[in-house]
Amino acid sequence: MEEYDFGIVGLGVMGRNLLLNMADHHFAVAGLDLDSEKAASLVKEATAEQKVKGTTSAEEFVKSIRKPRAIMLLVPAGKPVDSAINSLLPFLEDGDIIVDGGNTNFPDTDRRVKELKEKNLHFFGMGISGGEKGARFGPSMMPGGDKQAYERLRPIFEAIAAKVNGEPCVAYLGSGSAGNYVKMVHNGIEYGIMQLISEVYDVLKKALNYEDDQIQKLFEAWNQEELQSFLVEITAIVLKKKDEETGKYLVNLISDQAKAKGTGKWTSQNAMDLQAPIPVIDAAVNMRDLSKYKEERVKAAAALLVEKESVPSADDWGNKLKDALYFAMISTYAQGLVQLHLASIEYQYGLNLEVIAKIWRGGCIIRASLLEDFRQAYQKDPSLPNLLLDKNIGDILISKQRAIRDVVKLAIDQGVPVPALMAALGYFDGYRSEKLPTNLVQAQRDYFGAHTYERIDKTGVFHTQWD
Ligand code: 6PG
Repeated sequence: MEEYDFGIVGLGVMGRNLLLNMADHHFAVAGLDLDSEKAASLVKEATAEQKVKGTTSAEEFVKSIRKPRAIMLLVPAGKPVDSAINSLLPFLEDGDIIVDGGNTNFPDTDRRVKELKEKNLHFFGMGISGGEKGARFGPSMMPGGDKQAYERLRPIFEAIAAKVNGEPCVAYLGSGSAGNYVKMVHNGIEYGIMQLISEVYDVLKKALNYEDDQIQKLFEAWNQEELQSFLVEITAIVLKKKDEETGKYLVNLISDQAKAKGTGKWTSQNAMDLQAPIPVIDAAVNMRDLSKYKEERVKAAAALLVEKESVPSADDWGNKLKDALYFAMISTYAQGLVQLHLASIEYQYGLNLEVIAKIWRGGCIIRASLLEDFRQAYQKDPSLPNLLLDKNIGDILISKQRAIRDVVKLAIDQGVPVPALMAALGYFDGYRSEKLPTNLVQAQRDYFGAHTYERIDKTGVFHTQWD
């Protein structure tokens, strides 16, 4: 009894892979699942030297874990998390720790932290990124909760996490729902970059008439340079795949109606509450939504014909697109990181953006060589309000801004939709505007609603009878 180091509830592919990853690192692990086949197959997958137990009994499971117990839930977000907690509660004791490893909406985590604190239990919300392979061989993990209780989890999480320069891609992030919040924004950035990559692909295909294999080769080459990142890498792999049945490129046979589970939408919704502009992520959410209206788009495609301009000659559109994507990716990360900065103030998470950039360098879906530049920017100035104000990042953006302007102009003239690329550039131009035209907005508000305005030449609050 009490001989296992860690337990996981929910032996789907993520749960099973994380437990086997822990077993590889010599931890004794237990899994609980109501499905007896899943419990049994976990044990079968382990090697003879590994100490792995699978059970369908919550009591046997809880009692087999050493105190204070460390138990992770890997069940679908929402009600299943509450049900899993309730099934464990009768057997848990003071100081035990429950970690929710799913993509839970952060207010749910705040509620559970509070409810379980009243029972002397610790509750952690932890984002896990990297999919099935990551879980098995090294994910990036984003835990938030009670700082002292984290010490019980730390050795296990540090052992199983992805490593970059020997440093684990996991760290205590902050209190309450900090872990889920950071993972939510991670996913928002993920949506943004995926949309940007798709737009660049669309421009190559529709505006420049590149062949499929030319596009594939470009992404493959870009992944060897400064654009090196997981999402660019898998794009090159995806674009290479042929359908076994038809011999055609598989991507061309996939329906263009995109699905979403909600994390991108939550990022946009909460950004509005915080007044944190994240236009690239908003555009990505919008375009997944727009993609649903297939029938209408088919009709509109026939009705709303636009004459295309001729494509301006450029030495190398490939390089321009590479630079435009690089620029837009930086803009996206900058927006997401500002949201984290503002959320940390609002929800008192105590986030450290250097640490977040550090644990995103490996294991997760948005890992990219750029993250090391971001880490260094926050190391230089921990209170940096926006990555755009870092000298090094600013210089990169200045050197690439001509390319993104040319690419956006090309897309506009050819009628190819690039709302995320435009948002990345619009954010940059908005942020670097000493003077915005919002003085006019203020005047209009005062005209129709007597909402008052402030002046630049004297202090006070003013109202004018405009006509
Ligand atoms: C990760 C992913 C993972 C999942 C997304 C997909 O970091 O490993 O983000 O959490 O694949 O939830 O989200 P959508 O289904 O909304 O695209």
